[in-house]
Order: sequence, then C-alpha cells, then structure tokens
Amino acid sequence: MTISHRDPNAPHCPAYNKERELIHVDCASHCYPDGSVGIHDMCFYVKKDEIVALCGPNGSGKSTLIEHLNGLLTPNKGAIWVNGRLISVGEKTDLWKEVGVVFQRSDDQLFAPTVLDDVMFGPLNLGMTPEKAQAAALAALESVGAADLRERLPNYLSGGQKRLVSIAGILAMKPLVIAFDEPTSDLDPVHAGIIEHLITDLRERFRISAVIATHDLDLAARIADRVCLVKNGSVFAEGEPREIFYDIALIHEAGLEPPQIVKVYLEYCRVHGREPDARPVRMDELMAAIR
Ligand SMILES: Nc1ncnc2c1ncn2[C@@H]1O[C@H](COP(=O)(O)OP(=O)(O)OP(=O)(O)O)[C@@H](O)[C@H]1O
Ligand SMILES: [Mg+2]
Repeated sequence: MTISHRDPNAPHCPAYNKERELIHVDCASHCYPDGSVGIHDMCFYVKKDEIVALCGPNGSGKSTLIEHLNGLLTPNKGAIWVNGRLISVGEKTDLWKEVGVVFQRSDDQLFAPTVLDDVMFGPLNLGMTPEKAQAAALAALESVGAADLRERLPNYLSGGQKRLVSIAGILAMKPLVIAFDEPTSDLDPVHAGIIEHLITDLRERFRISAVIATHDLDLAARIADRVCLVKNGSVFAEGEPREIFYDIALIHEAGLEPPQIVKVYLEYCRVHGREPDARPVRMDELMAAIR
C-alpha cells in the first residue's frame, strides 16, 4: 500500500466494493444544528478483518464520523453503507448488531443498575436466554479485566472503569465492526495494554474489524493496518503506519506530531550520523533497527 492523497477535485470516493468492505462512507457531510461542520465530504471505508486508525487533531471530525457508523447521526449529504445496506437513508433497524460503538464519554453508554445488568443488556436484546446473556457478559468483563466490577453501580465507577465496562458491553454482542472512540484515554498503562491486546485479539479470534479514533499515534502505529489522517472533517491521506508516520511533512500538515518511536529512531540516526534506512513503528522493530 502506498499513501493515497484525496484529490479534492474528485467527484466521488473510490467505488464501493461490496465483497471487501464492511463500511463505506461516500462523500458524507454533517452539519450540526448550530451550524458547526462535523464532517465534510468524508470518504472512508473499513474492510473485513481490518484495524483502521483515525488520527487527527481535536475537532477534526473523528467522533462525528464514528457516530455516523452506527446510525446515531445521519449525513446531510453523501451516502453510508454498512454490510451492503444503505443506512444513510431510512433503514437502520438492528444496525447495532453490526456496528458497535464505544463512546469517548462512557456516561453516554451506561444506564443499568449494576455493571453486570449493563453488559447483559445487549446479549439479552440479541435474544439470548438470561443464562447465556450472563455468561457472555461475564466473559466480556473478564476479557477487559473488569470482572471484579460486576456488582458495582455504573454511576459510581471511575472514568477508566466506566470505559472498560462500556467496551465489555459492546464486546458481549460481537458485532462485525467495533468503533472505539479514544479507547485508551483515561486508562492506566496496564488497562490500556489490555484494551490494545483485546482489539487485535478480537480480530484474530472473531474476525471483528476495528475503527480506532485516537490521539495515541504510537498505539495506532502498533496495531493499525491502515491509518487515515483526518483534518477539517475529511480523510485527506491514508496508508500503512510505516508510510504515513515517516512522512513527517504530512504528519505536520495533519496538525499532529510523529509517534515517539519514530522520533526516537530519527533522533538516534541524526546523533549517530546514520541514514534512516528502516521505518520502525514498534519497539521490537526499533531495537532491531538500531542494533
Ligand atoms: N453536538 C455538537 N454540536 C455542535 N457541534 C459539534 C457537536 N459535536 C461536535 N461538534 C463540532 O464538530 C466538529 C468535529 O468534532 P468532533 O467531536 O467530531 O471532533 P474530534 O476529531 O472527535 O475531536 P477530539 O479529538 O477533540 O475528540 C468540531 O468543530 C466540533 O466543535
Ligand atoms: Mg472525538
């Protein structure tokens, strides 16, 4: 894959490939009631078995895009397909079974009297028996390292604990795609690591694709197959992490800073007068490159 830049004069996004893509957003725009532009002429897609990172500065439109993926918001212009279904006009029934969204603010998601009730809500709505729903909920809580919270009141949890429980609630339903809005913000390094591992594990074990909106470019570099740079409401460049994150001018154009691993490698090469002839984006790759 090479970096592809969006041609601002192109009338449409690349054509929708129904066989390969689970989500296809075709030139979608959304203007909020107060006139703020959330996304503008946004083209985006998610393939089967893919982990895609959305990276962009504050206010660039990442959360707005994510809220379009499960039908919470509808574009004023453009079209969105999910699993072959045009969801931008009318038909959104049961969309939550296909795309799960873990919100940036967990308070938007949690509502039941106990954590276990909350995580069981989705499985029960999928038609599971209470016993099966409970087993699915407990397994999901276990996966995110939050089994000990099951009897707690969601309202009284810490921000990080709420986030883990919200992720468990989506995970328990095993949708085709999970969109995570800032999945590791508010989490301590241990829990951030659990979530990072979980995202890759879900793809391996259940073939669940993931969209991750994140300011943690090192996380994106480690786990994403493809990075989309978002600016002013649209994806303006995309490519593999090692291509995107070593195009420093592009990263700055996006209003971002390169991942730490990239900075360390380039600084190491500068100090030692070495040509940066590798493109490490993970710690093991960095160690191999400077050996
Ligand atoms: N409910 C809303 N009403 C009005 N404007 C909104 C609303 N939500 C978002 N916006 C505006 O839409 C634009 C995109 O916001 P969005 O939250 O999607 O950005 P983001 O990339 O997720 O930012 P962040 O990194 O800070 O989470 C911003 O200009 C924001 O002010
Ligand atoms: Mg956001």
